[in-house]
Amino acid sequence: MIPLNIVVALDTKNGIGKDGELPWDLTGDLKHFREVTSTTRSPKKKNVVVMGRKTWDSIPGEYRPLPERTNVVLTKNIGVRFPEGVLKADSFDQVMKMANNDKLKNIIETIFVIGGQQVYEEAIKYPECEKLYITHVHNTFNCDTFFPSFNDAFKSVQASEEHKEDLITYHFEEYKRRNGESS
Ligand SMILES: NC(=O)c1ccc[n+]([C@@H]2O[C@H](COP(=O)([O-])OP(=O)(O)OC[C@H]3O[C@@H](n4cnc5c(N)ncnc54)[C@H](OP(=O)(O)O)[C@@H]3O)[C@@H](O)[C@H]2O)c1
Repeated sequence: MIPLNIVVALDTKNGIGKDGELPWDLTGDLKHFREVTSTTRSPKKKNVVVMGRKTWDSIPGEYRPLPERTNVVLTKNIGVRFPEGVLKADSFDQVMKMANNDKLKNIIETIFVIGGQQVYEEAIKYPECEKLYITHVHNTFNCDTFFPSFNDAFKSVQASEEHKEDLITYHFEEYKRRNGESS
């Protein structure tokens, strides 16, 4: 199976979004996001980024599709159209089947789930979802969308030093699925 990972930035209450947008504007986090989701070990492979339709809508037109990655948008709306090269899926199972089919599995390295709330909630339940790349933003924002609780199922394996932009501090942390061991 192609590895399935999650990338998310969350505040101290697991908040991830507000009014359909990111609640913060952190250049260092956007750079980190681009590096994590674009980098492949094999130069012959690309990564897939999977997002919900509302997250797709939230990306400014000039920045989407996200370059150098295969963009997949989840939607139940069969009529909606996306730019050439962007793939559409009507269920998470379809994403997994699509990425693991004979044609694609040799050219895809990792599937990264990039939000929002609805899609994170579904993806984190898949046993194939082994790794979380979390940006912890050290403030509380007045969010209306949230990341599910994850500490029972995942353990921290790596954390960066603290970064600061304007008055906001944050750090990057990686988590791995516990696979049966207790906390
Ligand atoms: N902090 C972060 O790292 C981060 C990352 C990404 C997004 N966000 C924020 O999260 C918020 C958006 O989250 P959200 O939960 O409202 O929306 P979302 O998950 O981005 O999108 C929800 C939509 O995706 C489609 N969808 C979701 N699950 C599906 C499934 N299993 N099968 C088919 N379609 C599916 C549906 O689209 P249709 O209605 O078209 O059927 C649904 O309405 C925004 O504020 C955004 O800025 C934050």
